[in-house]
Amino acid sequence: MKTIREVSNLKDKKVLLRVDFNVPVSAKGEIEEPFRIEKQKETLNWLLGQGAKVILVSHITSVETFANLIPQLHMLLGKEINFIKSVSEIAIYLDHYAGPALLENIRQNEGEEKNDSEFAKQLATGFDIYINNAFAVCHRNHASLVAITGILPSYAGFLVEQEVAALSDVLKSPKEGKLIIIGGAKTSTKVPVIKNFLDKSDAILLGGVVANDVLKEKGQDMGSSVVDENSKELLSGIDLNDPRLIAPKDFVVFDNKILDIGEQTMKDYLDLIAKAKMIIWNGPMGLFENPVFAKGTNEVAQAISSSSSRSIIGGGDTISALDKAGLLNKFGFISTGGGAMLEFLAGNKLPGLEALS
Ligand code: 3PG
Repeated sequence: MKTIREVSNLKDKKVLLRVDFNVPVSAKGEIEEPFRIEKQKETLNWLLGQGAKVILVSHITSVETFANLIPQLHMLLGKEINFIKSVSEIAIYLDHYAGPALLENIRQNEGEEKNDSEFAKQLATGFDIYINNAFAVCHRNHASLVAITGILPSYAGFLVEQEVAALSDVLKSPKEGKLIIIGGAKTSTKVPVIKNFLDKSDAILLGGVVANDVLKEKGQDMGSSVVDENSKELLSGIDLNDPRLIAPKDFVVFDNKILDIGEQTMKDYLDLIAKAKMIIWNGPMGLFENPVFAKGTNEVAQAISSSSSRSIIGGGDTISALDKAGLLNKFGFISTGGGAMLEFLAGNKLPGLEALS
């Protein structure tokens, strides 16, 4: 993968910087979790420091448009960011460049999700180089990640470089001492990681809906707990009785629903965390958004942050939980990727990364 360090002279170069600003936004229009945005500062500031003219491109799914988020982006990025309403206005903006700008939600263009090369050509017009710094969306085969690399000289930004290095290290490091913790929902995205690591780690600890699905398939009465209807198909191919696949033994139950791991499970998990050399965690243990059911997640977070293990954490909900607990700066590496991190750890090739190599 070529990185921006390899570009010899960036002075006055027109740079399309693909970022992932796909962040949750509240009903009041406030950005609820700025981590992904703040992680773009290093590359953006470096490019601007080299004299490049930078246009940021991102998608967002929690709201239709970036238009109302621009003032918050100023604050989070520590600099003025202009707004470009459509792809056809980029070239005019670049000709009269007045500082960095963000293009409107790229997914408003039909060609984006189709990886359409004609659309990629339009998008590339006026630029000298393309930089992908959007690790979190590299698992998508979209025009601003893949087709564009056939048109412009393309490089990885610092964030993509760091993510790939940290997650490759997880895949390469020895099985002994490696502990995987998987929680949250979206079992379908987590099963490939479980499959990939069951033989390549000491243990996989489960929480959240993923644990519920496993317990359901093991014959436990789940009451009204959240489970996937198709849990049987989702979990097929995993030996649910493998002793390295550890589901909670006891729970916090409210309204006939499992909402957090119980005290004994917490103790067991904390003992395993204390012994681990490398910990990979994606997905909260329970309904952490409600403080009453956040104990399991918080205790796991505390234990990892104070252990001497190398920790690699990812997933939007996990990051929000850590942020709420004031622990975000206490981990070895926090991935901006949710789905992208899981796909990488499942051993799959990510189209956005493949396109850079
Ligand atoms: C994410 O939040 O995982 C990335 O931004 C990708 O978003 P998507 O799932 O809408 O493609």
